[in-house]
Amino acid sequence: MSARLLAENLFEQAIIYPNTDYRDRLNALIGLDNHKNRMAKILSLLINPEGIELWMNKYHPNAKRISDIVLRRPPLVILEGDVGAGKSELATCIGDAVARQEGIDITLLPLSLSTRGQGHVGEMTKLISTAFDYTVEKAGKLKNSSGKSKGGLILLVDEADALTQSRESNQMHHEDKAGVNAFIRGIDRIANGKLPVAVIMCTNRLNSLDPAIKRRAADILKFGRPNKEQRLFVLREPLTELGFTDDDIKDIVEITGETTEREYGFTFSDLIQRLLPSLVLDAYPNEAVNHKKAKEIVERIIPTPPFQDNTVVLK
Ligand SMILES: Nc1ncnc2c1ncn2[C@@H]1O[C@H](COP(=O)(O)OP(=O)(O)O)[C@@H](O)[C@H]1O
Ligand SMILES: [Mg+2]
Repeated sequence: MSARLLAENLFEQAIIYPNTDYRDRLNALIGLDNHKNRMAKILSLLINPEGIELWMNKYHPNAKRISDIVLRRPPLVILEGDVGAGKSELATCIGDAVARQEGIDITLLPLSLSTRGQGHVGEMTKLISTAFDYTVEKAGKLKNSSGKSKGGLILLVDEADALTQSRESNQMHHEDKAGVNAFIRGIDRIANGKLPVAVIMCTNRLNSLDPAIKRRAADILKFGRPNKEQRLFVLREPLTELGFTDDDIKDIVEITGETTEREYGFTFSDLIQRLLPSLVLDAYPNEAVNHKKAKEIVERIIPTPPFQDNTVVLK
């Protein structure tokens, strides 16, 4: 297979922003405003350095050293933490905010490692190298040495757990270490070429992340479970629509949190993709949702257990 064909099979469907669907999905994310703002700024800086240069000229025209330091930030942002917390969703939608802010088109190239590169020797390394070759080639065409980028790319490496083991770990197969090395080489190629590309990596296991990868992250953003207020925010509107009173809703918010038997509450996706549909499916097709019964239904739902990071990192 030619490198191009291989690359085209490698990525899931590319997304081009601005795109109103993704704008709406970004707006629908709850409790992530700080992460959204931070990511939009960092990605803008990486993809379109002209913006920060204009800002520097306006506010700090003599600040050459600091400007160099800021512009040389590594092109990687890591999203880490609990499952069902919005990592993939934020990574998939944030490009829209960046495209609007900078007034340029941005393309997302989504690579998921979970279902690929397992098995054949050399496969993971080849996959990573090919993904970066393709990204670097595409980005080279967008680069504009004088002034504004013609566009930008985001390479999304989702479910990167396959890559996140420390190279120092003895259990790690030689081949996996080669995969980590290929990833690091790719990041460095983008940084050294000053290409209009940002790489977003999502992982459930920050602890076992290779130190050399962590060191290259411009930012590491942590994701967690919703607190009481956030659960209320998620549930209030849909449950009110179904005829629940404020007190009914408070009860549901309470039982979806930590309990004495269970030291963790529901994840965002447990609430949105399991709890709410369960209430509807229980009543459908012959009756209305019954808020008295709802509590029982919710009590039967077992929230997703937190991701156990048992990987031993040898120092
Ligand atoms: N912070 C959030 N606000 C609103 N919905 C969320 C949030 N986090 C997750 N969801 C819902 O859960 C689904 C799964 O989230 P996802 O981003 O895939 O989680 P993960 O962190 O495991 O990548 C999303 O598509 C969205 O519907
Ligand atoms: Mg995910």
